[in-house]
Amino acid sequence: MLVNLNKILPRARRNGYAVGAFNTSNLEITQAIIGAAEVLKAPVIVATSEKAIRYAGIENISEMVIGMAKRTKIPVTLHLDHGKSYDLCRECIKHGYTSVMIDASHLPFKENVKLTRRVVRVAHAKRVTVEAEIGRLAGIEDDLAVKEKDALYTDPHEAKRFAEETECDALAVAIGTSHGAYKFKGKPRLRIDILKEIAGLVHIPLVLHGASGVKSKWINHVNRYGGQMAHARGVPDDLIRQAVRNGIAKINTDTDLRIAFTAGVREYLQKSPTDFDPRKILGLASEFIREVVADRNTVFGSKGTA
Ligand code: G3H
Ligand code: 13P
Ligand code: ZN
Repeated sequence: MLVNLNKILPRARRNGYAVGAFNTSNLEITQAIIGAAEVLKAPVIVATSEKAIRYAGIENISEMVIGMAKRTKIPVTLHLDHGKSYDLCRECIKHGYTSVMIDASHLPFKENVKLTRRVVRVAHAKRVTVEAEIGRLAGIEDDLAVKEKDALYTDPHEAKRFAEETECDALAVAIGTSHGAYKFKGKPRLRIDILKEIAGLVHIPLVLHGASGVKSKWINHVNRYGGQMAHARGVPDDLIRQAVRNGIAKINTDTDLRIAFTAGVREYLQKSPTDFDPRKILGLASEFIREVVADRNTVFGSKGTA
């Protein structure tokens, strides 16, 4: 069932769980995301970045995900991740996306509001939902001064004004995560205090980007089969659960899927040096992605909610 975010996220926020948004750029990853969510009876958001769209072709990726979504009973949203322009958001809406993110978080507040409002207007006319972002999702480096660090986090009062003025459907906040496999130098830490304050003021579903767990089980697996991913570190499950308890209703995961995919391909190729069938090579990768999607959805609490 193809749905927009409003069919799944407000309910998630009300009931204290989060829906997983997983990035895809090909057939195998999409099948694994939707297949695992089906088994778990969890709603799921299939996200494509601008680079993924360029890689796969917008017709190919949108038709594939929409087709799979329509053929399953669980709610599936096709979502543009980190849309940087009005034109790209419109292009996605034209191709049947049920949700778009306009990420103008790098712009000054007023311009972020202006661009987000423009996207909201065109999206809502087609019953497409909009996620926007306020705050900067940069890696919070250890050597930044306290003042500089604070400037990166979402300001709760700005977030309230932003949500009211833009009428966006979901809001991504910056509370200390960053994209990729190397999120923390020292002890992983999230500003749950800031999140609590935001959640007290902003009642639409909140979104956590850069939420991959980067678990040592998978890093060790990659490294065992020839990878080199020392010092990779993600967000521990207990911090994710705290974030969910405090208003996060959508959680983005890309890196964990990439790592699982890499672990599968590396293991398969090393163990089967005579094989050259792409379906077999990608088979183990798909299996590992399913395992990761199931694990993430269980941590998010979305299992059994579809
Ligand atoms: O938010 C970032 C996602 O991991 C997408 O990454 O732009 O390389 O597709 P990408
Ligand atoms: P990760 O890099 O932690 O998987 O975050 C993905 C993300 O936020 C996609 O928008
Ligand atoms: Zn992101």
